[in-house]
Amino acid sequence: MMAALPAALPRPDFDRLKGFIRTETGIELPEANVKTVRRFLLERLATLGGDLEGYLRLIRSDPAEYDRFIDAVTINETYFFREERQFGVLASRFFPDMPDQETIRLWSAACATGEEAVSLAAMAFDAFQGGGRRFSVLATDINRRSLETFQTGDYSENAFRRDGARFHHLLHPHLEGGGRRRRLTASLRSVIEIRPFNLFRDPVADPTDGFHAAMLRNTLIYMDLATRQAILDKVAAVLKSDGLLFLGAAEMPLIAHPHLKLESVDGVYFFRKKRLEEKMAGSVPDAGVVQAGKHRRAERMVRDWMARDRMPRDRKAAGAVDIERVMTYACQRLDNRLFQVESDSHFPFALQFLQIVHFMNANQMAEARDLLDLLDGALPENAISHYLYGYLEMAGHRNDAARYRFGKALDRNPTFWPARFHLAMLTQTRFPRQAAAEYRRCERDIRAYIDAGSYRFRFLLEGFNARYFLDICRKWIDKLGDGERSPKGV
Ligand SMILES: C[S@@+](CC[C@H](N)C(=O)[O-])C[C@H]1O[C@@H](n2cnc3c(N)ncnc32)[C@H](O)[C@@H]1O
Repeated sequence: MMAALPAALPRPDFDRLKGFIRTETGIELPEANVKTVRRFLLERLATLGGDLEGYLRLIRSDPAEYDRFIDAVTINETYFFREERQFGVLASRFFPDMPDQETIRLWSAACATGEEAVSLAAMAFDAFQGGGRRFSVLATDINRRSLETFQTGDYSENAFRRDGARFHHLLHPHLEGGGRRRRLTASLRSVIEIRPFNLFRDPVADPTDGFHAAMLRNTLIYMDLATRQAILDKVAAVLKSDGLLFLGAAEMPLIAHPHLKLESVDGVYFFRKKRLEEKMAGSVPDAGVVQAGKHRRAERMVRDWMARDRMPRDRKAAGAVDIERVMTYACQRLDNRLFQVESDSHFPFALQFLQIVHFMNANQMAEARDLLDLLDGALPENAISHYLYGYLEMAGHRNDAARYRFGKALDRNPTFWPARFHLAMLTQTRFPRQAAAEYRRCERDIRAYIDAGSYRFRFLLEGFNARYFLDICRKWIDKLGDGERSPKGV
């Protein structure tokens, strides 16, 4: 007998459910989906009896119920050649240059019912099959029910929209039947491998052979920053060097990753996996953004933000500012100039620090100082400001003032190794013993930084990576020895 439908789901239960969805899928349940999920759960509780805890236990032990649940909490909207401009760039600019001897490997990483994977396969068939070239498409998704629908190969009219129509002709040889329903031919189906895969929970296999291009579109938008980062780590790991990653256009500004370079062709943005040399070289700030007069605009921007209360007016009002977060955002923005975090007051600080670094790299020291004064007045005392002041003093050959500032940066944060590095450099002629000790400590901190996979200082490093500084530390440790010898003769 069916139990009565509970009238409502208490708030704590719903929060618990949202937490479960997050840990299982990485998804922050979007507002638009709350009603559906709430209704789904109430219906399941009414059918099965019991409470939320019992239901969560059931999901863990019963694969069929798990699949039903995942189907309810994911959004599976998709259609053929969605965001057709991306497909256009892939076909016109990248497919012709793909290496001749290799099987071209493509991945639709959250394929839902498969329209994206089929679009990729049909486009690749058109580009490569005439020349007898081999290609394959991997189609994965967390939602097994969607994948079952994909397996049937049946498509309704809904899969054909105006966006994408430019390439529908590529599907004609591969869809049988007409009218309202079409069925995928066995030959195109045979080049697509369909496999369940949870991007958030499942480990990626060690890639023996990476993907030339992947699409992970309209999925990360439902996830928080840390989750996106963790998923991108996995996806980046299985791309070939120079491999392409397409995200949904709306998702691009949310994403930055140290191994992925933002590029654009014909106004279409995508990521390209950096080659090893590029990764080693770090990321060079976009010199194009530094132009004469830009500091006025930057200064106006800061004042506008302050005026709109997006940034505190003075140190007292600033309250607690998490400098680590500011640095992380600055690095992310460095990787992706579309990256932004609208709702977080740390983000404007990160933008301004980046702007100061751009000024300094372009030798526009006066502009850098103006902006730094302005920003520093609004922030609590912090290591980045001290470091940047130190850098400006050093550039002006005021070495004592520079040493003082680098020392203050280290007081605020003893592991701020870029400050220690400069402090050592400024110290080595007069105080070699002290400099040797600083280089040794710096070496230790850089190693820990590299081991932790951290990159939070990268936006300060003028395009060099941490290993470059490590090498210099080593060199000076060798030259200075225990600091007894004069460094002059070395
Ligand atoms: C809106 S659809 C996007 C489909 C297709 N990529 C497109 O852009 O048309 C989002 C898909 O992401 C999948 N998804 C959500 N979380 C996932 C996860 N943790 N791992 C794998 N797939 C996930 C959902 O099941 C859903 O099919």
